Amino acid sequence: MTAATATAEAVEEFLRKCEASGDEAYGAFRSVLEKLEDPSSRTQAQVFLSDLQKRVDDSDECLNKYHFRIQDVVLDQYEGYQGRKNLTMMVIPSIFIPEDWSFTFYEGLNRHPDSILKDKTVAELGCGNGWITIAIAEKWLPSKVYGLDINPRAIKISWINLYLNALDEIGQPIYDAEKKTLLDRVEFHESDLLAYCRDHDVKLERIVGCIPQILNPNPDAMSKIITENASEEFLYSLSNYCALQGVCKRLFERRGFRVDKLWQTKILQANISALVEIEKNSHRFEFFMGLSGDLPICARTAWAYGKAGGRISHALAVYSCQLRQPNQVKKIFEFLKNGFHEINSSLDLSFEDDSIADEKIPFLAYLASVLKECSFFPYEPPAGSKRFRNLIADFMKKYHHIPLNADVRKP
Ligand SMILES: C[S@@+](CC[C@H](N)C(=O)[O-])C[C@H]1O[C@@H](n2cnc3c(N)ncnc32)[C@H](O)[C@@H]1O
Repeated sequence: MTAATATAEAVEEFLRKCEASGDEAYGAFRSVLEKLEDPSSRTQAQVFLSDLQKRVDDSDECLNKYHFRIQDVVLDQYEGYQGRKNLTMMVIPSIFIPEDWSFTFYEGLNRHPDSILKDKTVAELGCGNGWITIAIAEKWLPSKVYGLDINPRAIKISWINLYLNALDEIGQPIYDAEKKTLLDRVEFHESDLLAYCRDHDVKLERIVGCIPQILNPNPDAMSKIITENASEEFLYSLSNYCALQGVCKRLFERRGFRVDKLWQTKILQANISALVEIEKNSHRFEFFMGLSGDLPICARTAWAYGKAGGRISHALAVYSCQLRQPNQVKKIFEFLKNGFHEINSSLDLSFEDDSIADEKIPFLAYLASVLKECSFFPYEPPAGSKRFRNLIADFMKKYHHIPLNADVRKP
């Protein structure tokens, strides 16, 4: 058997496994990842992936039949882009498949000045198949970018995507302008929000992310432990629904962030029946008729409109947040960590006006630092504050010619 025949055989054998089920396909890719992780078999595994990519196409049929797809993500359409034109990215059905959400989010990132990510330590929350984390590393050369996701399968696929893009077709590393490879800049980790960074004491300078905000219509579903052996539907649902987080604009503002809207588009929405159910109990959603309507309608109305043949869209916005006074806000929350849970959860540091924020935040930080040292307010004795009495005395002397001083009752 020639080497070429052996390779073709190996690819067919691999595809047969993938065809059996989504779980089998995932298992097959996990073994490829193990080979990629081992430097002694890395080149061979990368060559195998290149052969596999040549054998399949990037169609929905491939995804349905073999339970994976390898596709190109075009990068050079984004403003100011000078790096490579495409990334090669695979997906499996149990993880989020990049679509309008992702592209709107990435567009928003591109509207920032380049300097905000260059040489920084960055995390992407909810990295899915890892394409945005890898694109950030490729375009902005951060010193490190951590791709984090709660779905264990997403992390494994992200690592495969990292190798796919860090090495060329024959398994050799691709170097960037600073002579580093993507493997030097990127790591992927399973993590609920920023848990990984907190537990490993990773100091982040920037956090970007696009994670679901809508509570799961079936609350019991989210209390399950998330493992890579959970069902494909459950793992996929992590892309659309969350258990508790609700990371919304207001929440950031209350925590002392200044929030700016960077970019917004409208996105067509298909099935919203689950959202109609959620709306009955709590949340109020906003949809729009068509892509240009700007009068918000609720999920129930939108659902009826969709059923009658109308197209429904929802707005997708990309926000940028920055702590107003990082050191001061840190002091406040550090103090509240120790037993002030109620104040901690009700504290609202959102201020319409910057000048009010500039006055109140340092005051609260000062108060926190005083209370940290002693558990009571350091009131002066009943006679009153000496400094205050001096001020009154000066005032009386100056404006009313009454010769008072702070200590003596009679002139
Ligand atoms: C809309 S997808 C975005 C994926 C990717 N950034 C992209 O644009 O293709 C949201 C991702 O957030 C992940 N996710 C949901 N809740 C999360 C959490 N609490 N912590 C981390 N990731 C979470 C999901 O598993 C999913 O991969």
